[in-house]
Amino acid sequence: MPQRYTVTSALPYANGPIHIGHIAGAYLPADIYVRYRKLKGDDVLFVCGSDEHGVPITITAKNEGITPQQVVDKYHKLMGDAFRDFGIAFDIYSRTSLPLHHQTAQEMFTAIYNKGGFVEQETEQYFDVEANTFLADRYIEGTCPKCGNEKAYGDQCEKCGTSLTPTDLINPKSKLSGNKPILKSTKNWFLPLEKYQQQMWDYIVETHGKEWKDNVVGQCKSWLNQGLQPRAMTRDLNWGVKVPLEGADGKVLYVWFDAPIGYISATKDYFTLIPNSTGNEWEKYWKKQANDTENSKLIHFIGKDNIVFHCIIFPITLLAEGSYILPDNVPANEFLNLEGDKLSTSRNWAVWLHEYLVDFPNKQDELRYVLASIAPETKDSEFTWKDYQARVNNELAAILGNFVNRVLVLTHKFYDGKVPPLAAERESDTELITNLLAKKEEAGTLIENYRFRDALGVLMDICRSGNKYLTDLEPWKTFKTDPDRTATVLNTTLQFTALLASAIEPFLPHTSNKIYDLFNISPLNIYGENLKLLPLSIGHQIKEPKILFEQITDEAIAAQIEKLHQTKLSQQMFPEIKPEITYEYFSKLDIRVGTILTAEKVEKADKLLKLSVDLGFEVRTVVSGIALFHNPSEIVGQQVLLLANLAPRKIKGIESKGMILMAEDKDGKLNFTSPNAVTTPGAGVS
Ligand code: MF3
Ligand code: ZN
Repeated sequence: MPQRYTVTSALPYANGPIHIGHIAGAYLPADIYVRYRKLKGDDVLFVCGSDEHGVPITITAKNEGITPQQVVDKYHKLMGDAFRDFGIAFDIYSRTSLPLHHQTAQEMFTAIYNKGGFVEQETEQYFDVEANTFLADRYIEGTCPKCGNEKAYGDQCEKCGTSLTPTDLINPKSKLSGNKPILKSTKNWFLPLEKYQQQMWDYIVETHGKEWKDNVVGQCKSWLNQGLQPRAMTRDLNWGVKVPLEGADGKVLYVWFDAPIGYISATKDYFTLIPNSTGNEWEKYWKKQANDTENSKLIHFIGKDNIVFHCIIFPITLLAEGSYILPDNVPANEFLNLEGDKLSTSRNWAVWLHEYLVDFPNKQDELRYVLASIAPETKDSEFTWKDYQARVNNELAAILGNFVNRVLVLTHKFYDGKVPPLAAERESDTELITNLLAKKEEAGTLIENYRFRDALGVLMDICRSGNKYLTDLEPWKTFKTDPDRTATVLNTTLQFTALLASAIEPFLPHTSNKIYDLFNISPLNIYGENLKLLPLSIGHQIKEPKILFEQITDEAIAAQIEKLHQTKLSQQMFPEIKPEITYEYFSKLDIRVGTILTAEKVEKADKLLKLSVDLGFEVRTVVSGIALFHNPSEIVGQQVLLLANLAPRKIKGIESKGMILMAEDKDGKLNFTSPNAVTTPGAGVS
């Protein structure tokens, strides 16, 4: 019997599009793993879907003046399409706003409730009297007790990073009405995580501590060492799965309770689409079987911010219910950064998958290759466009693409595109194939151990070995002198390339298909059991050569870098308003009209100009950082505003007395501020 696997990728929030950080973290590794396991003949179900609940979605809806359902409908479609077009081969991409999911989550809650698995507790929560609603943490704003930031949220201060509870805030305000909220008592249902402390230690550290990734075990240990605390599994909120209890109106399940259950409802959803389904098949992928050896292996692919939910809270939920299997592994990745900065949806600092697919049509595997090569498996890693270009051009195109092209060209040149016979086989020929078979085993083992970067490296080594074989044996030279050898070498290379197409399939499925198509054959399965070692028959006709990977041009890369640059600039366009001051404070600034008399470059400082400025009653020397934008000869006579009572400062050995006031444009250009009509130098500004 094949081993059963239930593989999940984190359900992305339907509150923004998918970016490359998501892909490298949770989707591409899972896809590679699943494609490999399926080729091996395992019984794998790969489920995902949109996470459509939670407070941020309600905030987006409010900001955009639409309903939460409209928000999630939009992003569910956008994300689902992008995943599909990119070749993430989910068996199902479901969503948590489905009635099927609401029912599944409620059943889980009820089952735990009926076993006495929750603790009911009254707590004081902030309530907005005018809006007549309890306030989620994110709906409360106030002053951070740590750093004084006046715009801290009820759960976190984004300025200093401190995590908060709403009652920590000084001067709390409701984001709904702007009023000060009152504390009101409310009942919620808590999962007593502390009761599972020992069981969780045994499960994570004793049972899986050696086989799970270090970053995952490390984070779990730190939670366990702090001691688990009860956590509310219900919230006073309108958007979400209704709490299925009498008297729980206006309460929904906590989003982190319902979302992982989304994996289960997605599995059910999958089988509803299968004809003649009995409705119970999903249980094989989730429930403990009579015989332990028949249990499915549950594997969660996630990013590191999701570790505690998948390794501790969700397993405790499953344990509390009692009939479910627990995660077998949670291969969480660290974070991917972009051009030196953290990826951020709210700051629009990202490469969006749906945009990539438009900007780089039919280049899915190029991005899959690069993201698999730099996946943040053990520590944070970085995507840059220059590196993308280099990896595609110098590795993917130069090694794999070039090799396949040589094979096709040679076959057409010498044999009209027909597979020549193995006329004079030698050891070096069979060795090429045996080596490939050994290497693909190695790659497979690495994939099984979630070491995708290394596995890809091994596969590229296989490509290199093919390149080297051709270069060493020079079949184009032997064609006249030893035609049997040329035929044999080309036959071997063709067989090798067909097998190679299958070996790379988990990583580069589009490329595999292109090679199968060029070779005019149906897909092979090198990881499966019934592998035919020489898949091509003699005389088999292959198609005309076609380039697999075009060069990524400098222009294409520059355009992407420019796009990111624009994002940065648009965020600098309106600098944050400074703290309030009084008129008295302002009146201390002595601002005067001046006229530039002379201007010259400051040596060894390409940004600086040395100016002499006429103030009527005296001429000042001022050093100003405007050289990148203004030519000395063109600004003589220009009137400017000058802060005249600024303490003098030595800049590059020149004493500068005062500061020219400049206006900074959105592209960073500095423009003069000056009176709208010529004004007497020395005139005061107030
Ligand atoms: N939506 C969450 C996030 O993007 C992930 C949810 S994973 C699930 O961080 F298990 F809860 F579904
Ligand atoms: Zn703070």
